[in-house]
Amino acid sequence: MTEIDWAALHDTAVEASAKAYTPYSRFPVGAAALVDDGRVVSGANIENAAYGVTLCAECSLVSALIMGGGGKLVAFSCVNGAGERLMPCGRCRQLLSEHAAPGMLLDTVSGIRTMAEVLPDAFGPGALDDYAAQTAGTQQTGAAGG
Ligand code: THU
Repeated sequence: MTEIDWAALHDTAVEASAKAYTPYSRFPVGAAALVDDGRVVSGANIENAAYGVTLCAECSLVSALIMGGGGKLVAFSCVNGAGERLMPCGRCRQLLSEHAAPGMLLDTVSGIRTMAEVLPDAFGPGALDDYAAQTAGTQQTGAAGG
């Protein structure tokens, strides 16, 4: 794997944070990631008057990843408006996990960590595949207790 330029990734996350739309929290977040094909994708949080509809920076980063041609995330950096390292929230760890390359690294408040360290025993597509394989040919029930 190519050497990861963490400083450049951090700078891209800081640039992204400047584009955040945060009229409600006034808490800008920027995220940047290296993709397995060498691209760098980024995102910022986009808030909404309906607070729960807010998109985290990681969400817009994953949108950029997919719309830019897909691929797997190799290295990830996230910052607040002061350029300080920020941990992805729990939902965003799940979001990143789906698109992580094996061994994906994150620049965290406690050093460089793997995706598996920040989201151990993650739920993923494998759980769906396993269940489908176990239940293949059996009757599916839509309703609870059915
Ligand atoms: N936020 C992110 O963008 N990513 C995270 O991982 C944590 C939280 C945003 C959401 C909201 O716009 C603001 O930070 C305050 O919660």
